[in-house]
Amino acid sequence: MAKVAFFLILIFSFRASCSLIECRKAGAIFVFGDSFFDPGNNNYIKTTTLDRANFWPYGVTYFKYPTGRFSDGRLISDFIAEYAKFPLMEPYLQSRNYHQVYHGANFASAGAGVLPETFQGAVIDLRTQLKYFKKEVNTARLIKKVGVFDSKTILSNAVYLFSIGTNDYISPFVLKNSSMLPSHREYVAMVIGNLTQVVRAIYKKGGRKFGFLNLGDLGCLPGLRILKQQNQLGGCFEEASTLAKLHNEALQNFLLEMKNHLTDFNHTLYDFNTYLRQILNRPSKYGFKEGKKACCGSGHFNGIFSCGGKREGMKEFEVCKNPNEFIFWDSYHLTESVYKRMAHQMWSGPSKGPYNLKQFFQCP
Ligand SMILES: *[C@@H]1O[C@H](CO)[C@@H](O)[C@H](O)[C@H]1NC(C)=O
Ligand SMILES: *[C@@H]1O[C@H](CO)[C@@H](O)[C@H](O)[C@H]1NC(C)=O
Ligand SMILES: *[C@@H]1O[C@H](CO)[C@@H](O)[C@H](O)[C@H]1NC(C)=O
Repeated sequence: MAKVAFFLILIFSFRASCSLIECRKAGAIFVFGDSFFDPGNNNYIKTTTLDRANFWPYGVTYFKYPTGRFSDGRLISDFIAEYAKFPLMEPYLQSRNYHQVYHGANFASAGAGVLPETFQGAVIDLRTQLKYFKKEVNTARLIKKVGVFDSKTILSNAVYLFSIGTNDYISPFVLKNSSMLPSHREYVAMVIGNLTQVVRAIYKKGGRKFGFLNLGDLGCLPGLRILKQQNQLGGCFEEASTLAKLHNEALQNFLLEMKNHLTDFNHTLYDFNTYLRQILNRPSKYGFKEGKKACCGSGHFNGIFSCGGKREGMKEFEVCKNPNEFIFWDSYHLTESVYKRMAHQMWSGPSKGPYNLKQFFQCP
């Protein structure tokens, strides 16, 4: 008996020391994308209040002050960092207090798309985010902190999170020049083609673990619902939802292709679309009171993007008392309550890819 116990302790301590080494390796997240992930990078660029959320009532429930996040509180990327036991991620462009341990960087920018044409001049497009990433990992910043050898390990174990595409598909409608669009399929191919180049570039730098979200039914965002003709008002704006659907199919194929062509390429794909559709169809089942109207804004469904009263020509707005009862925070964004549930599913729930995010952070 004593012998067995001794033996078990030996095995156990051996395993524990191995996994400690592994744990130390999986220690960084690099975040790319749009307002679903932007912690306030746009506070540091030349842009307009259309792409900023650094005024009341943004941030009102969790932070109690506006951080630049397009929600009442935290975003999906904030929860993911929290689940990984990392500190809250600051915007990359904020001059930084270095933490003791390197945990990555967040390059996301509200309004950004894959294509540089998307809200051009007002956002940090994905290609520029990639440029910042290269700067972050090539230059002194990372290497000086951890050394060349460890910086390679950090990059290959890091998780690369992407929320991107929504703005490529909504900007033509928001800017009212959708007639400029090439055919839907061509446009989606352009978006995915450019996304491929960015993902390949990160792979070349050592990135192996990628986390993607697919796109929601974009036409059901309050800001797009109001684009329907007056007499049909209420339903979703189908053309935008159709683009999202095409994108989601192409995204899944793209990820399979990456997996087939790039050795050790690993990914998760969170089904944002299905979850959003579920809660929009039956808000009360999921603990929400309102699924069409945004908490903050004006006009039908609060679909006019006036939340905060700081955007040009849009001074009037209302804000609900309890954002937790709403799915949409403003005309285009979700409440913290929704982001939290999504992050939780992305972390530990089923994925359309082979893994969920938690597995990327776990010790073998
Ligand atoms: C769409 O319209 C906006 C504003 O009117 C303009 O800045 C932009 O260049 C247009 N985009 C295209 C593709 O024509
Ligand atoms: C990337 O997007 C541009 C438009 O910004 C387009 O002309 C080009 O063909 C796209 N590249 C790929 C590889 O799809
Ligand atoms: C992908 O990630 C999972 C979970 O971390 C791991 O078990 C698996 O070996 C990885 N696959 C490849 C090809 O790296």
